[in-house]
Formats: sequence, structure tokens, C-alpha cells
Amino acid sequence: MNFLEERILKDGIIKEGNVLKVDSFLNHQMDIDLFNEIGREFKKRFEGKEINKILTIEASGIGIACIAAQHFHVPVVFAKKSQSINLEGEMLVAEVESFTHKCKNNVIVAKKFLNPEDKVLIIDDFLANGCALQGLIQIVQSAGASVEGIGIVIEKGFQSGGRIIRNLGFQLESLAIIEKMNAADGSVVFREQ
Ligand code: G4P
Ligand code: NA
Ligand code: NA
Repeated sequence: MNFLEERILKDGIIKEGNVLKVDSFLNHQMDIDLFNEIGREFKKRFEGKEINKILTIEASGIGIACIAAQHFHVPVVFAKKSQSINLEGEMLVAEVESFTHKCKNNVIVAKKFLNPEDKVLIIDDFLANGCALQGLIQIVQSAGASVEGIGIVIEKGFQSGGRIIRNLGFQLESLAIIEKMNAADGSVVFREQ
């Protein structure tokens, strides 16, 4: 078991409906030493890739991406989920559907922050159905840039996102993949990696 799987077992709380609460260390309160370990592990898994930019999405991805970036020494760009008055100039926009909230949202990045020569590592906290992630991929590609890899902290392996993204040929590295979890007895089964 790796450091993250151990932490999930120790501090994660399984809710009904296949929801894992990790807000004591990942999603609300943030354990920065853990984030640093996560960043180090991403650096190791993407060794040899020429990455010059990290892309994530607000809100929970930002902290993780920023600490990870200290291992890559590259800037972080985060996609916004709604149009803000501070966004100006040309925009790259992808429409994504949220499974949880049953609605459509835009994912937006200013065009000037993604260029055709960019080699991008996408980072996010959770991968479930992967709708948000597919929006980020679409944005990178619409900029003419390349997706060098995708780093996820926790993948819900029983939902379809991981399979879809891997089938598209991307190097997707999830530091913990949950095969199943049970709210009644608090058990979690991780995929062997
Ligand atoms: P998806 O299709 O893009 O995979 O997303 P989905 O609608 O399934 O999930 C919606 C939101 O819920 C996402 O955060 C996702 O990270 C988060 N999520 C999904 N499953 C779990 C879970 O088991 N536990 C926790 N803690 N979060 C989960 P968001 O609302 O887009 O992001 P943010 O603003 O919190 O970053
Ligand atoms: Na997220
Ligand atoms: Na989230």
C-alpha cells in the first residue's frame, strides 16, 4: 500500500452513494506535507516527459497542482468554471456535463495562457466519470498544445472515466485507484498497481 492509500484508510470517510470524503486532508483542509509527497510521486511517474506547464481546474485541483509544480518548476494554469468579469481576450471553452449535479458547465482558459508549443501535465484531485477531465483535454488540444500526461490523486475505478481516458491513449497516473468501497463497514479495496 502506498502513502496515499494508507492515508485514505486512516482519514477517509465513506458515504452512501459511493462518495469518499477526504476533506480533512485533501479537499477542504489540506495536508501540505502529503501534497508534497503527491508532487514528488507525480514527478517520478512522469520522469522523462518534457513538461512545461501544469493545467488544473478550480477549486480543489489548484492546491495540489501548485505544490506539484514545485517539483516540475513550471507555471500552473487553472481552468475556471464560469465566466468572470476578470476574464478578457480570447477564450478556450469546453462544455462539460456534471454527473453529480446533472447540469452543464463551461470550463474556460484564456487563450494567451496555452500555446501550441506547450507540453502540458493535467492534474486533478478526483477522477470519477471524467467529464471535467475530458473538457481539460479538449481545451489543451484546441490550443494546439499537447497533453503529456494526466496525474490524478484519487480515481474511482468503478466509474468509467479512467477507462475512457486510458483508451484514448493518454498516460493517466492515479496515485490511488478505488475498486470498491463500502459505507456500511468502512472498507476500501484498491487496485493493485
Ligand atoms: P466528473 O464527471 O468530471 O468525473 O465529475 P463528477 O460530476 O462525477 O464529480 C463532480 C465533483 O465531485 C467533482 O468536483 C469531483 O472531483 C467530485 N467527486 C466525485 N466523486 C467524489 C468523491 O467520491 N469524493 C469527493 N470528495 N469528491 C468527488 P468539482 O465539484 O468539480 O470540484 P471542486 O470545485 O470541488 O474542485
Ligand atoms: Na476537482
Ligand atoms: Na472536488
